[in-house]
Amino acid sequence: MCGIVGAIAERDVAPILLEGLRRLEYRGYDSAGLALLDAAGDLHRHRAVGKVAALADAQAAAPHSGGVGIAHTRWATHGAPTEANAHPHVARDEVAIVHNGIIENHEALRDRLTAVGYTFESQTDTEAVVNAVHERLEGGDDLLAATQGVIAELTGAYALGVIARRDPQRLIVARRGSPLVIGVGIGEHFIASDVAALLPVTRRFIDLQEGDVAELTRQSVRVFDANGHAVERPIRTSDLTADAVERGAFRHFMAKEIHEQPNAVAETLEGRVADDRILPEALGPAATQLLADAQRIQIVACGTSHHAGLVARYWFESIAGLPCDVEVASEFRYRRHVVAPGTVFVTLSQSGETADTLAALREAKTLGYRATLAICNVPESSLVRESDLVMMTRAGPEIGVASTKAFTTQLTALLLTVIAAGRAHGMDREAEARLIRALRQIPRQIETVLDLESRIETLAEAFIDKHHALFLGRGTQYPIAMEGALKLKEISYIHAEAYPAGELKHGPLALVDGDMPVVTAAPNNDLVEKLKSNLQEVRARGGRLYVFADPAAAPAAYDDCQVIALPSVDEAVAPLLYSVPFQLLAYHVAVLKGTDVDKPRNLAKSVTVE
Ligand code: G6P
Repeated sequence: MCGIVGAIAERDVAPILLEGLRRLEYRGYDSAGLALLDAAGDLHRHRAVGKVAALADAQAAAPHSGGVGIAHTRWATHGAPTEANAHPHVARDEVAIVHNGIIENHEALRDRLTAVGYTFESQTDTEAVVNAVHERLEGGDDLLAATQGVIAELTGAYALGVIARRDPQRLIVARRGSPLVIGVGIGEHFIASDVAALLPVTRRFIDLQEGDVAELTRQSVRVFDANGHAVERPIRTSDLTADAVERGAFRHFMAKEIHEQPNAVAETLEGRVADDRILPEALGPAATQLLADAQRIQIVACGTSHHAGLVARYWFESIAGLPCDVEVASEFRYRRHVVAPGTVFVTLSQSGETADTLAALREAKTLGYRATLAICNVPESSLVRESDLVMMTRAGPEIGVASTKAFTTQLTALLLTVIAAGRAHGMDREAEARLIRALRQIPRQIETVLDLESRIETLAEAFIDKHHALFLGRGTQYPIAMEGALKLKEISYIHAEAYPAGELKHGPLALVDGDMPVVTAAPNNDLVEKLKSNLQEVRARGGRLYVFADPAAAPAAYDDCQVIALPSVDEAVAPLLYSVPFQLLAYHVAVLKGTDVDKPRNLAKSVTVE
C-alpha cells in the first residue's frame, strides 16, 4: 500500500526521504516520488515508475535539496502506475501533496475545481485535494487552515502530507482511516506511514488519532483533533532499533522471518506460561473474566490472519467447548448480523491497520457484541487502540509481504486464549498441562523443521515448471493447507488451491494428473488413515504427492510419493509446526523461479484501503 515519508529540518532532507521510502518498500508499491522546498523556497519534484532505486537514480542525475520535503510510494488505485499518476501531486507549482487512502468524492471535487479553471494531469483522486488546497491558499487561508478546510469537504480515507511554496516553514499532516505517525527529533520533525521508515532518524513518535490534523515546524508540533481543538498527544519511545528491520545475512526478509519463528513463538509465550499452566498475566484479569463469561466467539480477519482464525475455530470448539464463527472482514462488514448473546468479537491482524478488519471492528462495536479483543502484532496500531482488550503477538517487525512469523505467533496467542477460555469453561487441569507442555516444545521443534530446509529446497525444483498445485488437509490441517496454497501463489505465482482432503472426489480429482503436484500434511491423529486413503486416490490418477508427515503415521514413500518426516507433536499444536515446511517450500520455489520474494507483484503488506 502507499507509503508516506516527510521531513522538516535544518539539514537537507532528501537522503532521509529516500531512505524512508526504501524502508517502506515492503508495503508494496508501483511508483515513487518526492518533492522538496529548497533554500530559496522553490518547489522541486522527482517521480519514477517502478522501484525507489529508479527515483534515487533520478535524484542522483538531477539532485535537488531542501529542508522541507514529502515523499511517497504509490500502490495504484485510481489510474495506472504511471509517472503522471505518481505522487507528490502539485498544484500550479505552489502546493505539493502526498496521500494514502481513497477520496470517495473526488469526482465531485474535480468537477467543481475544473469549473473554476483548475486543470488535471493525472487520473488520481489525490490531485483534486491538492488543487482544492491551492484554491483556499489563493483565497487567503494559511496552509493549516487551507488543509483543515479541504479535509472537511472530503469523504473517504486519507493520510496526507502537504507543503507549499508560500508557507515554507511548515509541513501539514492529516489522518483519517490511514496510518500516520509523527517522528520527533531535535530541531527537526518527520512523518511516515510506519515507524520503520524513521528509525534511522528518531525513536520518538506521536501517534495521530482519527481525524487529527498536525502542523509541524522544525521546532514544534501542534495537533488539532477532528473538531479543530488543539490537543496534546503523548510522545512514546519505540524500542525498535534501525536494524530490527534489516535483512542481515539472509537473502530475503521472508527467509529471515521464517528462521525467526522459534524465537518469535518463544517470545509470544514468554511470561504467559509457567511449567504446565497458563499464568493469569497471560491475558490479564479483564480478558480472563471476559472469556469466562463468553458464550460464543466471532473471529474476523483477512488473508493469512484469516487462516489463523480458521485454525482457532477448531480449537475453540474442541478445547474450550465454545461455538466459534470465522469470517473474512470484507464480507463481515457488508452484511446483516444476528449476534448471539455473550458473543466475543475477536480480530486478528499482523499490522492492525488492515482497512477491512478495522471497519469490521467499528461495525461490530455497534452490533451488541459482549466485547472486542484484538490479537495483533503492532502495539501502536489503530486496531489495538480501538479494541476493548488486546493480546499482543510478539513477532517483531514483519517485512516480507508473505506473512510467516506473524502467522505462527498468532496461532500461539490464539491457543493461549483458547486454553484460558477452556479453563474457565471446565477443561480439566491435565488437559491444560498437556497443551502447555506441547506448546513450550514448539520453538525447538520448529528448529528441527528448519533443519530440513535443504531437503525442501530440492523438492522445490519439481514445482518450478508447474502451473497448478493442490494442497490437501483434514481438520486443523485444512486451514494450514489453505495457508500453504496462499504462500505458494503469493510469491511464486503458481496457481495453488487448498481442499479438505475428503472433498477431493467432489471435484478437484478431475484436475489430478502427472503435472499436478499435491502437497499435504499428515500429523498423527484420528484422521490420518482417512487422509491416506485420499492420497491413494491421487496416486491412482498419476498425481505426484509431497507429504509432510509424523513418522508414526507416514504413508510409504514411492517415486511418486515423497515423504518428509516432521517431529512428532501433540495434535493440538500440529498446525504451528506443519505451517513451516509449507513456508519453506513456497519460499524456495519462488527463489528458483526468480520472483520478487519479499515484494510480490500487485500485493501489499499492509492493505490500508478497501
Ligand atoms: C495483506 C498481506 C497479508 C496479510 C493480510 C492481512 O494481504 O499481504 O500477508 O495476511 O494483508 O493483514 P493483517 O496485517 O491484517 O494481518
